Amino acid sequence: MSEINKLLFKPVKYYYIENTEESILAKKVLKIGHRGAMGHEPENTIRSFKKAIALNVDAIELDVYVCKTGELVVIHDDKVDRTTNGVGYTEDKTFAELRQLDAGKGELIPTLEEVLDFVDKRVIVNIELKGRKTAIATYQVIDKYIKKNAWSALDFMVSSFDHHELNKFKQLSPQIPVGALIDGIPLSYSDCAVELNAQSINLSLDFINQDFVNHAHNNGLKVYVYTVNDYDDIAKVAKLNVDGIFCNFPERL
Ligand code: G3P
Ligand code: MG
Repeated sequence: MSEINKLLFKPVKYYYIENTEESILAKKVLKIGHRGAMGHEPENTIRSFKKAIALNVDAIELDVYVCKTGELVVIHDDKVDRTTNGVGYTEDKTFAELRQLDAGKGELIPTLEEVLDFVDKRVIVNIELKGRKTAIATYQVIDKYIKKNAWSALDFMVSSFDHHELNKFKQLSPQIPVGALIDGIPLSYSDCAVELNAQSINLSLDFINQDFVNHAHNNGLKVYVYTVNDYDDIAKVAKLNVDGIFCNFPERL
């Protein structure tokens, strides 16, 4: 992550920093590799995270479940069917069973700890809580990496569509920035994120508009938008003055 983005990652008001690179984005806009660089490599694998970092992201995004034996594993779906050569529910499988599966190009389903070891503080890690009991398990891993491996709170971002699970996480670990994921604009716009004491509200490209962005900014929130892959859409959301973009092809940002 660039030093300037690390500084600006705190929930502060706006600065415009002239872009000196070829990217159309102002430097303050966080470039987030969605499930790594899933447009190029099997999603949520070390190979995908490696590609995203090679493409100069500021952050990688990944999804977590707790499997049957308690490990926090990095996979997007409640079932392994779509992304591996196996079948069945992720939460019903032991870690040993999950490790038998091919997650694409011979990659294994990684644990969150394996991803953190691989990333080694080079970029922010956005952990999206997908499954049950992920708040406590994620808190335990993050706490370990902050205490033993000298990671800082700002090296992490935790998000979820499940605002109850996210709230549990925030209670356990108030210093870690959280992002309230939403898939549509509630009547109260970004107020749910304020209630969660979130740093950001993360909205789908399908619903983003200027009023929403302004409302969030007036609430002191950052706005991150997912998943923006087309060049036209990237230009469109950049004009709305969003603060971060999730992309499957990070070189387009
Ligand atoms: O966090 C942004 C995005 O990952 C949310 O949706 O379904 O890709 O996890 P999904
Ligand atoms: Mg996700």
